[in-house]
Amino acid sequence: MTARTTTTTSTTAASAVGTSFTRVEGRDKVTGAARYAGEIPFAELAHGWMVLSTVARGRVRSVESDPVRQMPGVLAVLHHGNAPRVDVDYMGLLGKPDPILGVFQHDQVPFAGWPVALVVAETSEQAREAAEALVVRYDEEPHDVAFSAEHPDTYTPDGDGMLMEKGDLESELAASAHVVDESYTTPEEHHSSMEPHAAMARWDSGRLEVVDSNQGSTWVAQELANLFSLDPASVRVRSEHIGGAFGSKGVRVHQILAVMAATLLDRPVRVVTTRRQLFSLTGYRSPTAQRVRLGADADGRLRAVDHQAHSLTSTVHEFVEGSAGFGRPMYASDAHRSVNRVVRLDVPTPTYMRAPGEAPGSFALESALDELAERSGVDPIALRARNEPDVGPVSGLPFASRNLLSAFQEGARRFGWADRDPRPGLRREGRWLLGTGTAAATFPVIVMPSTAAVTAEADGTFTVRITASDVGTGARTALTLIAAEALEVPQDRVHVRIGDSDFGPAAISGGSMGTRSWGWAVTAAVADLREQLALGGEIPPQGITVRSDTSAAVGALAQKERHSYGAQFAEVAVDVTTGEVRVRRMLGIFAAGRIINPLTARSQFVGGMTWGLSMALHEEAHRDQASGGHVGADFAGYHFAANADVPLIEADWVEDTDADDPIGIKGIGEIGIVGAAAAIANAVWHATGVRHRNLPIRPDRVL
Ligand code: MOS
Repeated sequence: MTARTTTTTSTTAASAVGTSFTRVEGRDKVTGAARYAGEIPFAELAHGWMVLSTVARGRVRSVESDPVRQMPGVLAVLHHGNAPRVDVDYMGLLGKPDPILGVFQHDQVPFAGWPVALVVAETSEQAREAAEALVVRYDEEPHDVAFSAEHPDTYTPDGDGMLMEKGDLESELAASAHVVDESYTTPEEHHSSMEPHAAMARWDSGRLEVVDSNQGSTWVAQELANLFSLDPASVRVRSEHIGGAFGSKGVRVHQILAVMAATLLDRPVRVVTTRRQLFSLTGYRSPTAQRVRLGADADGRLRAVDHQAHSLTSTVHEFVEGSAGFGRPMYASDAHRSVNRVVRLDVPTPTYMRAPGEAPGSFALESALDELAERSGVDPIALRARNEPDVGPVSGLPFASRNLLSAFQEGARRFGWADRDPRPGLRREGRWLLGTGTAAATFPVIVMPSTAAVTAEADGTFTVRITASDVGTGARTALTLIAAEALEVPQDRVHVRIGDSDFGPAAISGGSMGTRSWGWAVTAAVADLREQLALGGEIPPQGITVRSDTSAAVGALAQKERHSYGAQFAEVAVDVTTGEVRVRRMLGIFAAGRIINPLTARSQFVGGMTWGLSMALHEEAHRDQASGGHVGADFAGYHFAANADVPLIEADWVEDTDADDPIGIKGIGEIGIVGAAAAIANAVWHATGVRHRNLPIRPDRVL
C-alpha cells in the first residue's frame, strides 16, 4: 500500500487526473476579476433589505410602512399584506419544501429572525436605513426553544434510516465484559461561509433570471419555478463563483424575496443577507444530545452497539440531523440499534451542514470507542481492527471498497502511533499536558443523474457545459482534468462552463456527490463525442456537440455498502493553568476513491479537518431562552478557528477506487470533518485523563 503524495504539476494529457493543478479560475479569484452574486453590477438595480421578526412566536399585527415609504430612495415595502403568492405544496429535489419558503404568505411568526418585511430602495444604504426605521407590531405568543434529550415532545420520525436494529441488544449488553454507557452533546453550529447569501432577480424577455450563489443552479431554478408556478423553461439561474456553501446554499427566502420584488417593481432587485441574518435564515446544524452504549468481550470484540441521537427541528418542517447513522457502516457487532429522534421547537429549520449526521455522530461513537479501548486495555487502532466487518454490519451488503484499516496503518506509521504510551496524563512540557488521539471517519458515496454537453470546437479546443457548482472546492478544475483525460488532450485545450441552469439538470454540490456525478456525465459525453469524431470529417464553425444523460447508468448501479473512510489523528497540548487546548498537529489519511486533483483534494480534506478542529474547540451558538434568538450572532460572538488556532494539518490518502464508477471516484467533500472532533477529544483525554463529552472543549470546561 502506498500513500499518494505527489504535488508536482504537469500539463500532459495522459496524467491529467491524479496530478496537481491550480484552479482554472484561481487568477480571477485572487485579482478580483471573479465576481460574486452580491457585487455584479446591473443596470437599474434596486436593493432589498430584509426586516426580521424580533419575537420567536406570534403574529404580525401591523407593518407600519407609510412613514418609511416617504424616506429617500424607497421604492416599496413588501410584507404579508401585499406580496405575490407562492405555492409551497410540491415535491422538490430534497422532498417537500420547508414551509418557511412561503415567506410573506401569512401573518404567523414561527421563529425569531423570520422575515416580516422587505424594504426596496434605489441604494442598499437607503434600503437599510428605511428597514431599520420600519415599525412592526406583533401579537406575541409564548415560545419554547429549550432543546434537551428529555423534552417530552421528542419523537422518532417515520422517514428512512431513522431506526435500524439487528440482534438482541439488551442480552448482548448483559453478556458483555465491558460496557460503555455515556452521553455526548454537540451545540447548535452555524454555517459561516465567507460569502453571505445574495441573489439578484430580473425579468428579461419573459424569462425570470436569477444571479445567485448556490449549490445547484438547476435545483434552485426548479424550486423557483415550482414556488412561482412558472414554466421551468422560463427560469434561468446562474451561479458562477461561490464563496463557500456546504449545505446552506439551496433555495432560501432571499431569492424568493428578490423575485417577488423584481416582479412587483418590474426592475432588477438584489437581496443580500447580512452576516447576522444568516443565523436565522440559511440553516444551521441542530444541537445534538446522544447516548452511546457499547458492549464488548474482554478482548474488545463488540457484542452490542446502541446509538440514540436527539436533535431539534422547527415547528413547521422536519429536518433530522441523523447522527445515529454514522456507525451503521463501521463495526461488526452481534446486536445493533441506531435511532434518530427529534423535537419541534420555535426555531428556524436546521439544515445540511458539512457531513450532516456523520459530524456529530462520529464525535459520540468514536469517543465511546476510545472509552472502550481504555476500559478493555486494547489499543484504539487494534480495537477497530478487531471489529472490522466483512460486509456492511447492518446492511449485510458487500463493500464497494473499504480500506479503513489501510488508512489507519498508513496514518499510524506517519503519525508515529507505535511509540504511544496509552496511559493518560503522563506527558508534561512546562505548563502543558500533551496527548494524542485517533478516530475513524466515514461518509456515504452518492451519485445523482446529470446531463453534460461536450463540444469539439473548430479551433481544436473543447467546451464542456454542465450545471455543476464550484463552491470553492475546485470542481471546475477537476472537471477540466476529467474531460482532458477522457479526450486525451492537454487540459489547456478544455474549457469547462458551469453554474448555468440552461445547461440542463445536474447533481448539486452536496452530499459529496458533485465530482462523481458530474464526472460520470462528462465521461459519458466525451465517449460519445469521440465516437462521432472517429467517423472523420470537418468540424463545422459551430462545432460538434454531444450530450449525455447518466440517468440510466446511475439507476443501474449495483447496491453495495458504498462509503468513503478515513483515519484521523491529533496531538494536543492542554494548558493546565488556563484550560486552553491547543491542537499541535493533525493527520488525516483517507480512503475516498480515486483522487482527481491532489492539490485541491488535499485542500478539501484539510478544510474539513479544520472545521472539525473548530467544532471540537470553538463553535457554539447560544440561543437565548427569553427572546428565542441568538446571543452574539456575528463573528465576535460565534467563534470558529482562525489561522492562529490551526496548526500543521496534513491530509493524504491510500489507494482506493470504486470499480462501479467510470473514473473510480467516491467523494471527498465532507469526510474531512468526520471524526476530527473525536480525535481531538480523545487526545485531550490522553493528555489530561479527563473525558470531554460536551463540545466545544472550552477552557472553562477543561478547568
Ligand atoms: Mo453538503 S452538507 O451535502 O452541502
